[in-house]
Amino acid sequence: MAQDEWTAVDAYFSEKLLPPDDALEAALKRNRDAGLPAIDVSPLQGKLLFLLARLVGARNVLEIGTLGGYSTIWLARALAGAGKVVTLEYSPAHAAVARENIRAAGLETNVDLRIGAALETLPALEQEGVVFDFVFVDADKRSNPDYLRWALRLARIGAVVAVDNVARAGRVLDAASDDPDIIGIRRFLDLAGQEMDQKKRWSATAIQTVGAKGWDGLAIGLVEQA
Ligand code: SAH
Ligand code: DHB
Ligand code: MG
Repeated sequence: MAQDEWTAVDAYFSEKLLPPDDALEAALKRNRDAGLPAIDVSPLQGKLLFLLARLVGARNVLEIGTLGGYSTIWLARALAGAGKVVTLEYSPAHAAVARENIRAAGLETNVDLRIGAALETLPALEQEGVVFDFVFVDADKRSNPDYLRWALRLARIGAVVAVDNVARAGRVLDAASDDPDIIGIRRFLDLAGQEMDQKKRWSATAIQTVGAKGWDGLAIGLVEQA
């Protein structure tokens, strides 16, 4: 069965490329103990986020959707100098687990965790004048079009924007879907294309991913113009 093979190949890659990591493993255990859904990025995907953030020399990272802070830890470890990850989380219960995971990983001075619906906490970031080098969008998929607008508004030219879960095991193809998340992903892709072709704001692609977390996809773009 495909999933077993994807999981086995992920295990093999992880064995070769990801050394045991106490802080990340402890974070996943705390998430499980707290009953959080196991929808964090996979370890290999976390490493991809870490590498992308390092490639842009990120000092200011924005993450929308913290959960237990697993991806936040990867991103905070990628920061250049005295950088910060601003991470936005709707659920106070998830945020409490994330805070503990981030503290235990020794990263609390590098993470600014803000509780609330992201569309309500994003405007303050603009008022504060923070400019981001890397943005990871991984919250409620129905809001992805709005999150792309905000990412393009808050990111510098040369920043990278990554958006998780754009394939959803192929369900993204269902133009008649009444699932708000699928509708949101499809509208995000429409907007992603428009912002590229008509407005030249960014240059983006999307790749399908398989692995321990199933079949999904990641959109990645480079911000080209204010
Ligand atoms: N990035 C995490 C996984 C995030 S899961 C990781 O890889 O480790 C998605 C998270 O987005 C959940 O914790 C959910 O509570 C949060 N979320 C859902 N709607 C949101 C909203 N409107 N604003 C901010 N966070 C939201
Ligand atoms: C779900 C959300 C995610 O961000 C993810 O990576 C996988 C699944 C979900 O809501 O089901
Ligand atoms: Mg996700």
